[in-house]
Amino acid sequence: MKLGVNIDHVATLRQARGTVYPDPLDAAILCARAGAHGITAHLREDRRHIQDDDIFRLKELQPLPLNLEMANVESIIEIALSVKPAEVCIVPEKRQELTTEGGLDVVAHYDALKSTVECLSEAGIEVSLFVDADQEIIAACKEIGAPTLELHTGTYCDAEPNERAICMEKLIDAADFAYSLGLKVNAGHGINQENLGAIFCIPHLDTLNIGHSIVCRAVFHGLEISVKEMLVGMQEYEG
Ligand code: PXP
Repeated sequence: MKLGVNIDHVATLRQARGTVYPDPLDAAILCARAGAHGITAHLREDRRHIQDDDIFRLKELQPLPLNLEMANVESIIEIALSVKPAEVCIVPEKRQELTTEGGLDVVAHYDALKSTVECLSEAGIEVSLFVDADQEIIAACKEIGAPTLELHTGTYCDAEPNERAICMEKLIDAADFAYSLGLKVNAGHGINQENLGAIFCIPHLDTLNIGHSIVCRAVFHGLEISVKEMLVGMQEYEG
């Protein structure tokens, strides 16, 4: 199983201060050095974290395959066609949401998604659809011609303990069904060190896309050394 690291929240920190650092490109290079298999970045319509320029730099200046997460809207499709990332993951997007809240309704948006999948596939981009564990939706992904889907694990990860078993059952059935149709199965959203073991119950997984929990842990792994470095710097004070 491969790991795609979502580096959106490195850009969130940068945008919070309007600085040029921390640069998601530097983060991607560190992820590559650590052994990650891919980099995921979500270019949202409101540009709240990743910016257009980040996407171009992430494609050109770091060694891992880029998975561009995006809504199915014309202006972002144009950017995808210009950047040509290895993969595009189409997600539903709402302006007010804190993060992607659910999977795509592939049945309701069938025609619009089909033309985007065709257009991106013709450009040589692997298209993945972010979906809930729902057989009708997964069958529609196959019909549309998307080679890959990403199962939304957030519902499981955020569920109350007494609801988790049923959520996991749905994910297992969905992965089995998608695999039986010949689809590549990825998974993502809400995965962390604590629930990772449970995610292993889902069969046929190719890649996990994980972001928030990795960036959060990175803060604590880096805090001690960062304070020590600042204290060393302060020793030069002669006042
Ligand atoms: N996969 C998709 C489609 C997402 O929208 C996100 C969140 O941007 C992730 C994976 C990563 O989720 P998290 O940040 O919770 O690990």
